[in-house]
Amino acid sequence: MSNIIAVSLEKGGVGKTTTVLNIGAGFTKLGYHVLLVDLDQQGHLSRWLGWQEDGKPAISELIYQEVSKIKTAEYQQFVRHSERENLDYIPANKMLGGIYAILGADGESNTVLRRIFHQEFFGAYDYIIFDCPTAVDNLLVSNALQCSDKLLIPVQAEKFAYDGIPLMLQRYMAIKQTNDIRPFLAGMLITMYNSRTTMSKEVREALIESYGELVFPEPIPMLQEARNSTNDESPLCGSLVGRKNSRVGQAYLAAAMRIAGEAK
Ligand SMILES: Nc1ncnc2c1ncn2[C@@H]1O[C@H](COP(=O)(O)OP(=O)(O)OP(=O)(O)O)[C@@H](O)[C@H]1O
Ligand SMILES: [Mg+2]
Repeated sequence: MSNIIAVSLEKGGVGKTTTVLNIGAGFTKLGYHVLLVDLDQQGHLSRWLGWQEDGKPAISELIYQEVSKIKTAEYQQFVRHSERENLDYIPANKMLGGIYAILGADGESNTVLRRIFHQEFFGAYDYIIFDCPTAVDNLLVSNALQCSDKLLIPVQAEKFAYDGIPLMLQRYMAIKQTNDIRPFLAGMLITMYNSRTTMSKEVREALIESYGELVFPEPIPMLQEARNSTNDESPLCGSLVGRKNSRVGQAYLAAAMRIAGEAK
């Protein structure tokens, strides 16, 4: 049975995609079979996994196929294998920008991803992770939240870090139709944490004060290695988990272990 996780916050540049890539790699290191799903038309996740436009169907065609009920490709054709064993993904490209009208045309426009992933991919993977676009009130995000068992919120350790969290939780509660959202949260992961600044420490303390154990104990350090690893031009492009002496990789592995219930 799969665990489906959405990584989302409507604030941009907080480390969502970096988190999806590295948590996914962390799960494979723990022996799990993982599918990452790029839901952002920027396609950063796809590119960081080494994908180049290959003319084969991507996530937008998968959604179109579900809504139109016209099957043009087998489900396996949407899946690409990354260089890392057991780390598969479904890529996104600019075509995804046109998907909103198509999603909106569906009679149950919030459950399109749920129908696809619960019916076709559930069971084939231990973890399915959605990289959500940075957006407010967005049909792709609400689809991802609807489809997921858990929400993982990356929070950048900087001023205004709180922006968006209450609204995100409010929306998620409405989607899950619950007053207690805790069972549906993987937690809040502090990203780009600089232990030398009081700002980072203050953000961490304030988050723990508000959300207690929902905040991962180990923040992800802010380090150049992370920036380099997500630079498309860099030969280092890819995840940092398992890379020698990578502190960012180690911190993400610790977070993956916590989510998987394997934290020491
Ligand atoms: N721990 C880190 N230390 C330093 N830089 C980081 C770290 N994590 C992410 N970054 C950098 O911050 C930038 C934004 O990260 P990322 O793209 O993962 O965020 P995002 O929330 O997905 O952004 P977007 O809103 O574009 O989708 C990237 O250049 C990335 O390399
Ligand atoms: Mg992103």
